[in-house]
Amino acid sequence: MRRVAFINEKGGTCKTTLCVNVGAWLAQARRRRVLICDLDTQGHAGKSLGVDVRGLSPTVREWLDGAAPFAAVVRPTAVPGLDLVPANKELAGFPVAAAGDPARAGRLAARLREVPAGAYDLVLLDAPPSLSLVTENVLRAAGELVVPVALTYLALDGAAEIVASLARLREEEGEAPAIAMVVPALYRKTQLADEILAKLRERFPGEVAGTVLGWSVKIDEAQSHGRTIFEYAPGSPGARALAALADELLSRDPTRLAGGGAAGA
Ligand SMILES: Nc1ncnc2c1ncn2[C@@H]1O[C@H](COP(=O)(O)OP(=O)(O)O)[C@@H](O)[C@H]1O
Ligand SMILES: [Mg+2]
Repeated sequence: MRRVAFINEKGGTCKTTLCVNVGAWLAQARRRRVLICDLDTQGHAGKSLGVDVRGLSPTVREWLDGAAPFAAVVRPTAVPGLDLVPANKELAGFPVAAAGDPARAGRLAARLREVPAGAYDLVLLDAPPSLSLVTENVLRAAGELVVPVALTYLALDGAAEIVASLARLREEEGEAPAIAMVVPALYRKTQLADEILAKLRERFPGEVAGTVLGWSVKIDEAQSHGRTIFEYAPGSPGARALAALADELLSRDPTRLAGGGAAGA
C-alpha cells in the first residue's frame, strides 16, 4: 500500500485538487483501490467529492483520537473504488486533545497500520496548508510526497520549507518520506512563471513532473460543483493534465525512491 501525501506548507497550491483527481483517475481508469484521507479542517477533499462534511461524525478526528475505528470513519464516494475518510472543523481540536500523548505525532501512522491489509493499493493524504501537529502526523505516516508548487513568486519558498521539514524529520527520526513528484501548478504563460519553472527544474531535477498543470477554470468549477474533473469536464485540458499526472505518479516506482531521494538536496 503506497502512502502518498499531497503537501506544501502554502495554501492554494492545488494539493486538494491533485489529491482528489489523482485518486479518482487511479480508481476509475486504472482500477486501483484508493483511499483518500482528508487532514485539513476545511474538509475540501470531501467537498470536492460532493460530500457534505459539515456536522459529519465520526470523521478523521475521532479516528486520530482513537474514539472510532477505521470501519466507522471510512465511506464510499461517487467514484467506484475511491473511499474517503472525511475531515471537518472538528479536526482543529486535535492538537489540544492529543497534547498529553508523547506519541501524538505518530497517531496517523499508527491508525494506517490498522487499515485492513490488502484493502487499498494507495492511500492519499490531503495535508493542511500550515505547519502543525497534523502536518507532523502526515510526514510520519507518508512514504512519499507529492509537492504541488503554484508558479507564483513565493512558490519556491514553500518547496524549500518542505525540504527543511524533511531534513529535520530525518535528523529526529532517522527516516523521512521521499519526494516522489514536484508538480508545477497553476501555470500561465508569463516570463515570471517560466523563470520559476526553470528554477524548480534546477532545484528538483529528478522530481519535477513531466506534465505541468495549467490554470483552468474548469478545474475550479468542478471543485465548486463537488465533482471530479473527469465527471465535470472529461475532455478538457485540465482533465488530460490531471490524468497524466496520476499516471506519472503510478509509474514512479517507490522502491527506487528508497533513502529519501533528493529530499535532502
Ligand atoms: N489548475 C487550476 N486552475 C484553476 N484553478 C485551480 C486549479 N487547481 C486548483 N484550482 C482552484 O484553486 C483553489 C485552491 O486549490 P486547492 O486544490 O483547494 O488548493 P490547496 O488544497 O493547496 O489549498 C480551488 O478553488 C481550486 O478549485
Ligand atoms: Mg486543500
